Amino acid sequence: MHKITIVIDGPAGAGKSSVAQAIAQELGYKYLNSGALYRAIALYLHQHHIDPLDAAAITAALPEIHITLVNHTTASDYELLLNGVSVLDQLYSVTIEKLVGTISKLGPVREKVGGVQQDLGKGGGIVADGRDMGSKVFPHAELKVFMTASPAVRAQRRHSTLPPDAGVALEELQRHIEARDEADRTRAISPLVKAPDAVELDTSHMDFNAVVEQILQLAKTRMAG
Ligand code: DC
Repeated sequence: MHKITIVIDGPAGAGKSSVAQAIAQELGYKYLNSGALYRAIALYLHQHHIDPLDAAAITAALPEIHITLVNHTTASDYELLLNGVSVLDQLYSVTIEKLVGTISKLGPVREKVGGVQQDLGKGGGIVADGRDMGSKVFPHAELKVFMTASPAVRAQRRHSTLPPDAGVALEELQRHIEARDEADRTRAISPLVKAPDAVELDTSHMDFNAVVEQILQLAKTRMAG
């Protein structure tokens, strides 16, 4: 069976990354966490005190930024190197969370990250999750899935992963998710849109294994085709 490209796009908190990793693991494919590459750029800018609103300074810094994704034996075991240094554990801080939304809107940043993503996807055998994998970065992917869940369900799922003492109200999470959806859908560059040839999967009432199973079935059909 030939190695295909599988993309899973959708709004924040739909559970794309854990599903994408499970599928990559099952098929022996590489896993591409596309958001992590935007986060790595944000980390570099933060480390070098570059203003996230200074598009000219950011564009000038881009040639200095080298990002490598190293996949180890299992799909969930990967490393992201920023100029040779492993940084995955620094990418999910509140500081980076705040910066990444701003810098990922910039055209030159998207072009750079898109190029790195396309290089990683050469030859297929990859499962990529993100916002614009199917609509922009891998337009010829054999399987495109657009994974959604209602804001209430996504808020509930996120809430259940937080420690009980985190003090974050469910309603506040839901409002945050709805605001992020709106920002992702309405941004000028690479807005969150379902590619016309993507299969839409509303996972609001599906459990994790059912989602993975359904996508694997679709993948097997595409591999055979
Ligand atoms: O999936 P994530 O939360 O790690 O994504 C981090 C940020 O990067 C988020 O603000 C959306 C942006 N992003 C993007 O614009 N395009 C992608 N393909 C993936 C993420």
